Amino acid sequence: MKAIGRVLCATGIVAGLIAFFWKDPFIPENLSGARVLLTGASAGIGEQMAYHYARFGAEIVLTARREAVLQKVMEKCLTLGAKKIFYIPADMSSPSEPEKVVQFAVQKLGGLDYLVLNHIGMTHFQMWTGDVEYTRWLMQVNFFSYVALTTAALPTLEKNRGSLVIVSSLTASFLAVSILSFPGKIPTPFTTSYSATKFALDGFFSSLRHELIMQKRNVSVTLCILGLIDTDTALQNTRGKVHISASPAPEAALAIIRGGATRVQEVFYPWWLQQVCCLWVLFPTNRGQVLRSYYNYSSP
Ligand SMILES: NC(=O)c1ccc[n+]([C@@H]2O[C@H](COP(=O)([O-])OP(=O)(O)OC[C@H]3O[C@@H](n4cnc5c(N)ncnc54)[C@H](OP(=O)(O)O)[C@@H]3O)[C@@H](O)[C@H]2O)c1
Ligand SMILES: *[C@@H]1O[C@H](CO)[C@@H](O)[C@H](O)[C@H]1NC(C)=O
Ligand SMILES: *[C@@H]1O[C@H](CO)[C@@H](O)[C@H](O)[C@H]1NC(C)=O
Ligand SMILES: *[C@@H]1O[C@H](CO)[C@@H](O)[C@H](O)[C@H]1NC(C)=O
Repeated sequence: MKAIGRVLCATGIVAGLIAFFWKDPFIPENLSGARVLLTGASAGIGEQMAYHYARFGAEIVLTARREAVLQKVMEKCLTLGAKKIFYIPADMSSPSEPEKVVQFAVQKLGGLDYLVLNHIGMTHFQMWTGDVEYTRWLMQVNFFSYVALTTAALPTLEKNRGSLVIVSSLTASFLAVSILSFPGKIPTPFTTSYSATKFALDGFFSSLRHELIMQKRNVSVTLCILGLIDTDTALQNTRGKVHISASPAPEAALAIIRGGATRVQEVFYPWWLQQVCCLWVLFPTNRGQVLRSYYNYSSP
């Protein structure tokens, strides 16, 4: 326990010093006129990202399935200051939609600077029931559509030295804990299929990042690792099942946008997630048991 205390104390002091001397490289004005394609934009974190981009004066294409909701988000974005804004309803479980959506965005905005991939299919927060078809479907929505959207958008992103921003989760990250450069991961219960799709994203986009750098193609790849965020769906899913407090969606949305704009490889939100991951790697004994103690489950 003493060792843990010392590590916590030391990381706390280091984090404090960094925060004090840190010069924020994020310049919101630079997002003025930036051309953004944002998925999962009708609700939750995606909706909040739309409002931030609008305030910063970006040109935006929103997409999700529900047209009426997209229309409302679009109207609010206009009042907030979006330079140009369009929406296109699309269901990402259909393999032909990603390319159509990118074509629409490129045609409306004349190119893209940011592709922000954020949508997810309906997630059951429960134990594995053996529904293989559901896993296959979720893989299509959460993973294959990301690959297809990226493939369609890469030429315009490369031309504009743009950015790919991928929203992922703590439940599914191979982490290069930066100070120690230790690989690690934190698997969690009740998220079998969801975790699988997020692990897949991590593998694909971390590998793609290497290849883009090797080919001197200047497109940044930012992977965002989030903890529990207070969106309606997440709160509904986890209520009574997990004892972890949720962080605010507008702040999570801003952290993602900031990470994309400053071209960092990884974003952790809330900030202490990185410390948690650090401890996870450093203290392998009993960590599974400690993690499970945050979940409410009594075996029948
Ligand atoms: N909230 C959390 O606690 C949390 C934690 C870690 C990571 N994240 C990540 O953050 C991102 C956003 O999560 P969130 O909580 O904001 O989710 P959310 O509130 O449930 O929003 C999901 C968005 O995806 C869209 N969507 C759903 N099914 C779709 C489909 N088949 N095709 C196209 N779009 C679809 C939804 O709009 P329509 O229904 O109109 O299609 C909605 O705009 C996700 O990548 C998630 O993994 C969230
Ligand atoms: C960001 O904007 C500032 C002025 O506001 C400008 O000097 C700088 O070159 C811009 N950076 C990029 C990467 O566009
Ligand atoms: C890549 O593009 C960004 C944004 O335009 C620029 O700031 C950066 O210097 C470029 N990097 C390289 C290696 O050309
Ligand atoms: C744990 O779950 C049970 C039902 O499965 C519920 O009745 C109980 O209130 C939950 N406990 C907490 C602390 O959320």
